[in-house]
Amino acid sequence: MTVESQAVASKLSRAAIFLVATLNEGEESLDAVRAMCGDLAGFVRAVGFRDLDGGLSCIMGFGSQAWDRLFGAPRPKELHPFREINGRHHAVATPGDILFHIRARSMDLCFELAMQITARLGGAITVVDETHGFKFFDQRDMTGFVDGTENPVGRESLDAVLIGDEDPAFAGGSYVIVQKYLHDLKGWNALSVERQELIIGRKKLSDIELEASVKPSWAHNALTSITDEKGNELKIVRDNMPFGTIGKGEFGTYFIGYARSPSRIERMLENMFVGNPPGNYDHLLDFSRAVTGSLFFVPPETFLGAAGP
Ligand code: HEM
Repeated sequence: MTVESQAVASKLSRAAIFLVATLNEGEESLDAVRAMCGDLAGFVRAVGFRDLDGGLSCIMGFGSQAWDRLFGAPRPKELHPFREINGRHHAVATPGDILFHIRARSMDLCFELAMQITARLGGAITVVDETHGFKFFDQRDMTGFVDGTENPVGRESLDAVLIGDEDPAFAGGSYVIVQKYLHDLKGWNALSVERQELIIGRKKLSDIELEASVKPSWAHNALTSITDEKGNELKIVRDNMPFGTIGKGEFGTYFIGYARSPSRIERMLENMFVGNPPGNYDHLLDFSRAVTGSLFFVPPETFLGAAGP
C-alpha cells in the first residue's frame, strides 16, 4: 500500500489529474495556500486510505512568482518562470502558480482528492488548466507509440529527480515542467508507420529502439537523449498521459517531466523546438502543438508540512 504526497519518483499510474492554478490576490489567499501545504499529506492519507490498493499520490509545485509571494527567501536556486522557445516550432509559456499532480490507479481517487483540495482552497486560487489523463493500451500515447520506456527506475530515478548537495537548503526537492500538447491525429495517422517510427526513433508495435544506422539525428529519442561534459546521460522522469475529448475532436499528450535541474528539460526542449544543430528539429512537433508551458519547484514534504500555520 502506498498513499503518498510529494512522491516525485512514484510509480507511473493508470489515472491522473493535472491541475494548474493561479494564486489570487490578497493576504487571505496566501494564508489559505500555506495552510493547504500543511494539510496536503493529511488529505492524501484520508482519501487514499479509502482504497488501500489505489496508490494515491499528490505532488504540489510552485511557480517562481508564487514562491516569492508565499515563502520569500531563501528560494530554490534554479526556480524561474518557464522560458518560451521560438524556434522551428513555438513552446509557449502560460500562467501557472501552483501545480497539483494527482495520480492513482483509478480516477475516482484522483477526482475526490482534487475536489477536496479545491473546495478547501475556495477563492484562493483559480484553476487555469485541468486535464484528466488516462493510460491507453499498453502504455501507449494517442500516437500509438509506447511512452515512458526509457524512464529511469529505482535509485537511478531518485538520482535524476531529487536535488542534492547542489542546493542544500532544498535537498530532496525537485523541478517539474508541464506542457499540454494537442495532436493533429489525422495528419499523424496519414503517415506511413515507417515514417512515424523514424520520427519517434522506436518500432511502433514492439517498442524496440531503432538501430543507430537507421535512426535519424532528428528522431524524438535522439534529440531528447542528452549528456553532460563527461558523457554521462542526463535523465529526467516523465509521466506523460494521453487525454482527449471526442466531441471537440481534441486529443493530446500531457507532458510532465521531473528533474533535479530544470536545465535538463530545457536543453531537451531546445533540441526539440529549435533543433540540434538548429534546424534539425523534432518532427513530432509538425503534428503536435504545445498549448501550455509552466515550470514549478516541488519542495520536499518536510518543507510543505512546516509551511502551514
Ligand atoms: C521518449 C512521446 C514530449 C522527453 C519518448 C518516446 C515516446 C515519446 C513515444 C519513446 C518511448 C520512451 O522512452 O518513453 C512523446 C510525446 C510528446 C513528448 C507524444 C509530446 C507530444 C517530450 C518532451 C520531452 C520529452 C517535451 C522533454 C522535454 C523524452 C525523453 C525520452 C522520450 C527524455 C527518452 C529518450 C531516450 O532516452 O531514449 N517520448 N514525448 N518528450 N521523450 Fe518524449
